[in-house]
Amino acid sequence: MSAGPATPPIRTRLTELTGIRYPIVQTGMGFVAGARLTAATSKAGGLGIIGSATMTLDELKAAVRDVRERTGAPFGVNLRADAPDAAERIELVIAEGVKVASFALAPRREHIARLKEAGLVVIPSVGARRHAEKVAEWGADAVVVQGGEGGGHTGPIPTSLLIPQVVSCVDIPVVAAGGFFDGRGLVAALAYGAEGIAMGTRFLLTSDSPVADAVKQVYLSKTLTDTVVTTSVDGVPHRVLRTPLIDALERSGPAGRLVRAVRSAAAFRGLSGLTWREMLREGAAMRHGSELTWSQVLMAANTPMLLRAAMVDGNSDLGVMAAGQVVGVIDDLPSCAELINRVMAQAHECLCRLRDQT
Ligand SMILES: Cc1cc2nc3c(=O)[nH]c(=O)nc-3n(C[C@H](O)[C@H](O)[C@H](O)COP(=O)(O)O)c2cc1C
Repeated sequence: MSAGPATPPIRTRLTELTGIRYPIVQTGMGFVAGARLTAATSKAGGLGIIGSATMTLDELKAAVRDVRERTGAPFGVNLRADAPDAAERIELVIAEGVKVASFALAPRREHIARLKEAGLVVIPSVGARRHAEKVAEWGADAVVVQGGEGGGHTGPIPTSLLIPQVVSCVDIPVVAAGGFFDGRGLVAALAYGAEGIAMGTRFLLTSDSPVADAVKQVYLSKTLTDTVVTTSVDGVPHRVLRTPLIDALERSGPAGRLVRAVRSAAAFRGLSGLTWREMLREGAAMRHGSELTWSQVLMAANTPMLLRAAMVDGNSDLGVMAAGQVVGVIDDLPSCAELINRVMAQAHECLCRLRDQT
């Protein structure tokens, strides 16, 4: 173990709950937040979270053990509440002694109850006030609240309005997400009454992230207006980099989308090892109960493969690259330790400046 980071901590209910030094969360991101990124974040004093939605059960177990070998610091696992094997995943996380569980979509009440009974800290991610109120009522310990500028699945309300609104409505600690990248943002989030920040895109763009270098360069070249929220990938609003593939999907009518979805499903079926039946079942589970067209069901089933094509295989033409608008103000690839120390140092400077001004 190293002597530990030099920057002084900032204590909040989030750091107390989870036992971390700094109120900074690296969120669970499919194909991005594996053992290496998670361990690097937690080792640097933040809360690393494994993105398990795109892992098999065995891969998840291996990733948890890998993180534990790399660091003794607390870390979490991000789960998909609507995964067909969600209950099994929850038991695995409990059996492996993971400290924090997070959820991509609002969890079910019984998921929270089981995890709490086993002594885990439960921190779901939400994008709307009513969902924050619901998970608070169901016993969640804290909630990550993501504003519309955030990457991946996202809502319409900007962080600057959603965070103060939710902070006023729930008593549990709120962790602000969507658009954060530096110490000024951390102080702004604390000023709104949040108790920490969660960042996705910023951690994707670190030297500890496993994303292919060519794909990181694509992200680094983007400006503040180069992302788009589209429902054409999997039927729900998803903030991604604007690429020719996304433009083509957006332009296609229902028939064009179906053709494209079938073609894409055929191409990816081999890669994923899924049968058509499994693929459709997987797509339907993702959308649980909502009214979907066939092309949307197919695209939903394809989504992991589309993300994988970019994130793992480095194919930015074929793949979908989830990204927050914040991508437009990021221009380097620090290590997680450098990033966290930088954010904390800037936050302390900012707090001193504000103190001097009052
Ligand atoms: C590439 C990528 C993949 C993501 N995958 C997931 C996921 O699997 N589960 C989840 O809860 N959120 C996921 N998200 C959302 C992030 O966890 C996080 O809430 C979001 O990135 C915050 O906004 P920011 O990008 O502005 O920091 C993903 C985001 C990105 C950029």
